[in-house]
Amino acid sequence: MCGIIGYAGAQADRPVLEVLSNGLSRLEYRGYDSAGIAVAPEMSVYKRKGDLDVLEEQLPDAPVGALAGIGHTRWSTHGPPSDENAHPHTDCEDGVAVVHNGIIENYRELRDDLEAAGHEFDSETDTEVVPHLIEAALEQGADADSAFRQAIGRLEGSYAVAAVFRGREEVYATRRQSPLVLGVDDGCALLASDVPAFLEYTDEVVYLEDGQFATIRPSGIEVRDQRGALVDVSVETVDWDPEDAGKSGYDHYMRKEIYEQPRALRECLRGRPQPFEEAISIEELEELPRPTEVQFVACGTSYHASLYATRLFREHGVRATAFLASEYDIETVPVDEGTLVVGVTQSGETADTLRALRTANGVGARTLAVTNVVGSSAARETDHTMYIRAGPEIGVAATKTFVSQQVALAMLSSALTGDCSREFVESLRALPDQIQSILDGSRAEEIAEEYVHADAYFFIGRGYATPVALEGALKMKEITYRHAEGFAAGELKHGPLALVTERTPVFALVTGDSNTERMLGNVKEVEARGAPVVAVTDDPGLIEAHAEHVLRVPETHWRFFPILANVQLQLLAYWVAHRLGRSIDKPRNLAKSVTVE
Ligand code: F6R
Repeated sequence: MCGIIGYAGAQADRPVLEVLSNGLSRLEYRGYDSAGIAVAPEMSVYKRKGDLDVLEEQLPDAPVGALAGIGHTRWSTHGPPSDENAHPHTDCEDGVAVVHNGIIENYRELRDDLEAAGHEFDSETDTEVVPHLIEAALEQGADADSAFRQAIGRLEGSYAVAAVFRGREEVYATRRQSPLVLGVDDGCALLASDVPAFLEYTDEVVYLEDGQFATIRPSGIEVRDQRGALVDVSVETVDWDPEDAGKSGYDHYMRKEIYEQPRALRECLRGRPQPFEEAISIEELEELPRPTEVQFVACGTSYHASLYATRLFREHGVRATAFLASEYDIETVPVDEGTLVVGVTQSGETADTLRALRTANGVGARTLAVTNVVGSSAARETDHTMYIRAGPEIGVAATKTFVSQQVALAMLSSALTGDCSREFVESLRALPDQIQSILDGSRAEEIAEEYVHADAYFFIGRGYATPVALEGALKMKEITYRHAEGFAAGELKHGPLALVTERTPVFALVTGDSNTERMLGNVKEVEARGAPVVAVTDDPGLIEAHAEHVLRVPETHWRFFPILANVQLQLLAYWVAHRLGRSIDKPRNLAKSVTVE
């Protein structure tokens, strides 16, 4: 939610404006209602409401001779999208420019004090207090470094902040509970909210810790702690391919990421199912004992993956509950020494999930992050981390990371309980090829075309398939802006059936398991109300007689059927959104990484 980038470098083939605007295009998924750039040592600020294209029209074609700069892409929290509210924000004299991701909780009182002291504000944002605080410190005689530190010292809340000063060829930055990673290369240094923003320039990174201050210069980076002492940082190499962060010829990141699922799953599985053994082992979790209870905390799609996982754990004999992270309340959800609290979060930065994990940490529960992003806050703040290894996901709608979460959690349930079978391992190993065959032969585009003008879309499933029915509806609503709902099929008759008409297609997830007969009963209920039924199934013979269309998936163990069925639902949502001309990768009002509660 909001993306920031910073760069300091003197190489002719890496002009500051180009590096910053490339970085912003990689960060747009974090927010896209306005964007801006400031460069130094000659201070120039460019910012505009709208997406990056609008800003780029304003940027000069000729090199600006800058050596340092910062950029921002915004997802508004304080103040609507406008040119004034776009970052960077400056002080009265344009001597300093600041970008910020997060929420400054005490901005109102800071602003009142600053206005009383004569500072004039141009925007409605919380961020604008920062350049004015810096200006006030400079007026008191502080140098740039200590003015920056003094200003940050006044802030309460969460922030990643970067600033450039007129006359200085460096970028100052710090963070508290918002992500910020540094990149190092010969003759330049970078910083960003997320690694893909600068991956085309370097894969050597330093994860800044909460409370640390960084200065990036063409000659390198300097990190200091809160008291100003130099920190000896360790540089890590990330193994994401720069091409992973681009569209590779696809129209949309979402489509590319749907098609990357076989590869993502192979990565997720790599080295975990043990060759010739009926066992799963997760190297990074070898020290983690079998829990007596698992509590998942997650949001949105990650919550659906968690719901799916609760069934696996329960089957293995462990009590498991999935909580919406924003509803997790430790006072009403007791934990003990046997409880494992698992934060499932693609980004590792979702504020609701981090708050829930911190709450659990605070009462001494053992915590585990299941995340995609190495070095993310969730990874750093929990006792244990399991990576889903899906590679960067840029499309706002989670696709490949959902599938990787489901498979990672399936492996986790087996590894922690020691409950495994050859069939379980073989079914897992077959998933990448099975997903490939769905991608190669799906009829989802044709079905999307037929139902593009439906009044609403309903998704039903039972048991393991219910979370995927919820996920199918979430995907449909977020990228098509059409009404879609997912239900446990048995719930239809308790209310939702009133919504079902001949203009509301019902997508039914049907497989051969202990629920099949009751599921078919539910399908007949909607059929009797005239609704067109589209069956997503690995056994068409079960349902053909009651369905207008069948979206087929390969046969698999019934536990994994929803993982395959979900791919058809992703494609369906994609094609409906495509047909409606929606902004598929950047749906309105949404951001990829939600760093506010
Ligand atoms: C939907 C989607 C969101 C995220 C949610 C949690 O497609 O992507 O619902 O799943 O915001 O995000 P993470 O997993 O990063 O914690």
